[in-house]
Amino acid sequence: FHLYLDSADLAELKTCLPHPAVHGVTTNPTLLRRAGVSRSALPQLLHTCLQLGARQVQAQVHAADTDGILADARQLLAEFNPGQLVVKIPATRDGLRAGAELSAAGFPVTYTAVYALEQAHFAGQLGASYAAPYLGRLEDAGVDGLALIAQMQAALTRSGASTRLLVASVRSRAAYLALLELGVGSITIPPKLFSELFDHRATLDAEIGFLADAAALG
Ligand code: E4P
Repeated sequence: FHLYLDSADLAELKTCLPHPAVHGVTTNPTLLRRAGVSRSALPQLLHTCLQLGARQVQAQVHAADTDGILADARQLLAEFNPGQLVVKIPATRDGLRAGAELSAAGFPVTYTAVYALEQAHFAGQLGASYAAPYLGRLEDAGVDGLALIAQMQAALTRSGASTRLLVASVRSRAAYLALLELGVGSITIPPKLFSELFDHRATLDAEIGFLADAAALG
């Protein structure tokens, strides 16, 4: 299972990293804009994430046409060692075309903004490493996101593809737990959800008791 932090805000990321349970960091242009990170500053931000213990980083292309996507992807990949960077590409007609070429050349690809079963299936068929459905946004649109993600998971398993779902737009602990129940291969969470998963009040209270008793033992 791969857990990611979905953010381009270094201060926010540093509240969670390093942590051995976190596999990596995912970004996209919206997150970069929100964090005030320019395109030219992106490689440095991602290198800092690797130094902070992320084993892998994911960055999105900016272009929408096949040639532009490939040029963006090659520019990003040139900055990292093999396997460190996964190229995120929206699961459009052109995106699938560019991604297939990258996958065939051995580069890991995530198809993102996945809203439909067939897109997840194409990701598997074309050898992508990940397909990223947006749970919260599916539910905003009135779709039963969990049911659709379960179908995507089943379709990938049936076809024997090694593609993992990387579920994004995960906004609550309840959503996270429901995804674990489904057995998805990876989830990316906003750092604000990190504390809900890692800092449990009852555990912290128990620890206070243990510390007091340990101190009393001398
Ligand atoms: C994924 O790439 C997006 O950054 C993210 O998951 C969107 O989350 P939101 O729908 O809660 O904004």
